[in-house]
Amino acid sequence: MAASNSTPVSIAATEASENRLQTGYEHPWAVRFCHWLNTVSLFVMAASGLRIFRNLLNVPASLTLGGWLGGALQWHMTFAWIYVATGVFYFAYQIFSRNYRQPLFVPKDLAGVWPMIRHYFFFGRKPAQTEVYNPLQKMAYTSAILLGLLSVMTGIVLYNPVQFSFLATLIGGFHWARVWHFCVLCALLLFVLGHLIMVILHGWNNFTSMLTGWKRNPEYLP
Ligand code: HEM
Repeated sequence: MAASNSTPVSIAATEASENRLQTGYEHPWAVRFCHWLNTVSLFVMAASGLRIFRNLLNVPASLTLGGWLGGALQWHMTFAWIYVATGVFYFAYQIFSRNYRQPLFVPKDLAGVWPMIRHYFFFGRKPAQTEVYNPLQKMAYTSAILLGLLSVMTGIVLYNPVQFSFLATLIGGFHWARVWHFCVLCALLLFVLGHLIMVILHGWNNFTSMLTGWKRNPEYLP
């Protein structure tokens, strides 16, 4: 039984000799599919974007993709459509399945953020895990999803500044759209760095849950 009423997790429990083996179904196929497709798209777009940006900033060629400006633009635009389609599908799935409650950071989670930070960075006591994601995870995932939205908004202005002039005005014009687009990339890369450190620290069982959907003996189960 899940400890939180708001967490839509299905549980399978089996008695194996004296050991009680419990598994929680945490990540539906649509979320896993979008997560991995989005990971590939993001890396391709970051590398090709840095090649495009090389006209302004001398990024080492080994970190970039596309070989030249035209090639990089082709990679960037192809994967931009995949990235947008993945995002639309993810939002639609999360809303219609009501699974959005799992990663969405809401005001009631605010009080749980500091105890998690104290635990991770200042060796504080570990707060009890009551849902699939703890409040700090929810905050990080909701921010990453918002950053994804911002990357598309600023990218659309760069792609078609005339048709989307209202968006361009909103973010300070074409020049600022470039700056914001680059800042959003930096923020996303920071998120990915922190995310990967956490995934490594939390081990194989946590990692495979994003491949199979299932997690063995999750902490929120009794
Ligand atoms: C190789 C790279 C990556 C690995 C190994 C990885 C691994 C994982 C794992 C294991 C989880 C589940 C955590 C848990 O159950 O506690 C997760 C969730 C998540 N990851 Fe990643 N991830 C990667 C890249 C990314 C990237 C590039 C993004 C986006 C910028 C991202 C965004 C997210 C989000 C938003 C969730 C929560 C999804 C949801 O429940 O709706 N990840 N990731």
